Amino acid sequence: MARILITSAIPYINGIKHLGNLIGSQLPADLFARYQRGRGNEVMFLCATDEHGTPAELAAAKAGKPVAEYCAEMHEVQADIAKRFGLSFDHFGRSSSPQNHKLTQHFAGKLAEAGLIREVTEKQVYSNADGRFLPDRYIEGTCPNCGYEKARGDQCENCTKQLDPTDLIDPRSAISGSTDLEVRETKHLYLRQSAMKDQLDAWIDSKTDWPVLTTSIAKKWLHDGDGLQDRGITRDLDWGIPVKKGDEDWPGMEGKVFYVWFDAPIEYMACAKEWADAHGKPDAEWERWWRTDKGADDVRYVQFMGKDNVPFHTLSFPATILGSGEPWKLVDHLKSFNYLNYDGGQFSTSQGRGVFMDQALDILPADYWRWWLLSHAPESSDSEFTWENFQQSVNKDLADVLGNFVSRITKFCRSKFGEEVPAGGAYGEREQALIEELTKRIRAYEAHMEAMEVRKSAQELRAIWVAGNEYLQATAPWSTFKEDPEQAAAQVRLGLNLIRLYAVLSAPFIPETSARMLSAMNTLDTSWPEDVDAALSALPAGHAFTVPDVLFAKITDEQREDWQTRFAGVRS
Ligand code: 2FM
Ligand code: ZN
Repeated sequence: MARILITSAIPYINGIKHLGNLIGSQLPADLFARYQRGRGNEVMFLCATDEHGTPAELAAAKAGKPVAEYCAEMHEVQADIAKRFGLSFDHFGRSSSPQNHKLTQHFAGKLAEAGLIREVTEKQVYSNADGRFLPDRYIEGTCPNCGYEKARGDQCENCTKQLDPTDLIDPRSAISGSTDLEVRETKHLYLRQSAMKDQLDAWIDSKTDWPVLTTSIAKKWLHDGDGLQDRGITRDLDWGIPVKKGDEDWPGMEGKVFYVWFDAPIEYMACAKEWADAHGKPDAEWERWWRTDKGADDVRYVQFMGKDNVPFHTLSFPATILGSGEPWKLVDHLKSFNYLNYDGGQFSTSQGRGVFMDQALDILPADYWRWWLLSHAPESSDSEFTWENFQQSVNKDLADVLGNFVSRITKFCRSKFGEEVPAGGAYGEREQALIEELTKRIRAYEAHMEAMEVRKSAQELRAIWVAGNEYLQATAPWSTFKEDPEQAAAQVRLGLNLIRLYAVLSAPFIPETSARMLSAMNTLDTSWPEDVDAALSALPAGHAFTVPDVLFAKITDEQREDWQTRFAGVRS
């Protein structure tokens, strides 16, 4: 049994995620986790909410709540939606957990001991009215280049010119609008990534099986311009993990916190400790996933994320791990995604554009969305959600192909043989041909799933469903029954067994429906079809079943138009 550690990029706490976020990381990670469990492997699937940083503070302020309270509430909201989407995390943690505080401070201490941290004094804008330093993008003013009045301290949205806050004319705080700003000196910690450049370069070179897209992003950061830059890992904020060296205070860093991107990936590990603590397990239980000196040397570690997260995962996080000098598990395979667009534009959290996870579930059950999103995953390029395409693929793939197959065979059996697997007859040539085709396709499906080729896996699964339909069409047990009821019994027996087989194969994509299919077939047998022939005899003659309710309702043109209008605007 292989051991597979899977992490999904941890979603920001500030609001409910949209479908583009979902397909960019958590959903494909879930697909892979479910598949690996289905194959009998031991899986640890971790995700969490990313709770620090200015956006979290501002979202809390907007909601009129203390930030800790806001994060606790939003964590529950996200956890609930994740559950309703069938995301099968072994633990859904919080980057603000005490476990992450401790581990993040531990790493900072180790990096300092290794001489990989330097202190830098810099100048930063301080807002007297807000009583805080302002990050560049929270300073607004008039663009010196184009005169746009709402340019941000890091960039003008209107003319795209990169700016420094001091370039702005009439600068003001984007938080309070106050113009009572001054430039103050402040001390920060920098991770000396430049000193680790060769080590990181060699590590990336050892990843010969990584897609070029991924390694080229890392290589670009390593070699372009002046090469890999040191990175600020602290901020002047109230909310976050206090800067400490392990358990000790860090002189001169009082009142400062670690930068959100420093502590977020460390949460991948802290999350495993949260999992162990929540289940009253000893540390050895989570460390066997994360520490190569404690059993994790034979773990395969796979990370899922959107393409914008790749530099952090290929460079900054490995720099933290390698720099610590401790034997922590490094990523083995990294699967990244392009963007999903929404109906001719972009999904946008800040603008409330697109369909958000809670809204999606208000309209239709999770499996409809899971199937569409996964079968259209933005892998080799960006992809686009349109309501027409969604309607078409739900109606064809789910209702016409899979749903119809299940309904036809169970209803026909009930009408002629009653609600049990019929005895009599034997599998003949046609059945052998089907078994051969399925064997080939299932092996291909396994290969695509193993390689995390999400779209190709979906296509193969669909072809497996189609093969069953074609078999039914060709053998037509309803006609056979008239001349040769024994033969028809064998055909129906095969059809009923196919339902169980489809439930097992489809579970990673459509887990709820798969469970309904298994329950209709009255079986707990979820064994993987290593041998398709044997798998098609799993339900023996005389085995009772029930006809399930319609698995997938078709989306009508009226519904589609209604949703199209409803989601054309922005969410307030
Ligand atoms: O881009 C994002 O949504 C970040 N919250 C991802 C963090 S992943 C990590 F490193 F923990
Ligand atoms: Zn401008």
